[in-house]
Amino acid sequence: MREIAIEIRPETSGDTDRVHEIIERAFGRHDEALLVAALRGRMEPEISLVATATDARRTERLVGHIYFSPVRVGTALRRAIALGPVSVDPGFQRLAVGSQLCRRGLEVCAEIGEPLVFMLGHPEYYPRFGFVAARPLGLFYKSEQFDPAFFCAELAPGAARGFSGEVVYQPEFDG
Ligand SMILES: CC(C)(COP(=O)(O)OP(=O)(O)OC[C@H]1O[C@@H](n2cnc3c(N)ncnc32)[C@H](O)[C@@H]1OP(=O)(O)O)[C@@H](O)C(=O)NCCC(=O)NCCS
Repeated sequence: MREIAIEIRPETSGDTDRVHEIIERAFGRHDEALLVAALRGRMEPEISLVATATDARRTERLVGHIYFSPVRVGTALRRAIALGPVSVDPGFQRLAVGSQLCRRGLEVCAEIGEPLVFMLGHPEYYPRFGFVAARPLGLFYKSEQFDPAFFCAELAPGAARGFSGEVVYQPEFDG
């Protein structure tokens, strides 16, 4: 493994262009970067973290990003949080950058008192961070078609109790 030190910190205004570039490079298209740009301002405080890598020559590069947005749950429209997108520069993937972004992101959610975080994504990747299938808890995204990829993480014991029904993301996700 390469000798790099990874640090996770909140995104700052000077990071925005590089964050946009990393999201595009990670996904190989514009959609997710445009989604994050459109979502900005939807949540206060914004949870947007970056990963920086510092190599043996002490050169620091921004190599990863994770974003969170608010969702509404069930007919009561209770607020919760959705994780995603998470992006790692292709040259820095498989070095645990994404894992550190997810773990720190969930810690930040817990620190600000968020009980429940949802995730729509790779079924092999997210369970390691405490995500479990949402449907058995009575929570779902749009239709059964999404059940295999839709997860939630309880940030406090029993946090999902009191939440049930459809999880509705910000309208930008439908764009
Ligand atoms: C998915 C992603 C964030 C993972 O980041 P990463 O820093 O490469 O991942 P880590 O090094 O922390 O973890 C590596 C593990 O993730 C798994 N992994 C990586 N990409 C994966 C994918 N697309 N599907 C399933 N598992 C994946 C690897 O198999 C590896 O598993 P192992 O530890 O059991 O060997 C990164 O590959 C990425 O940016 N991909 C493109 C964008 C994307 O798909 N984002 C997620 C959807 S929102």
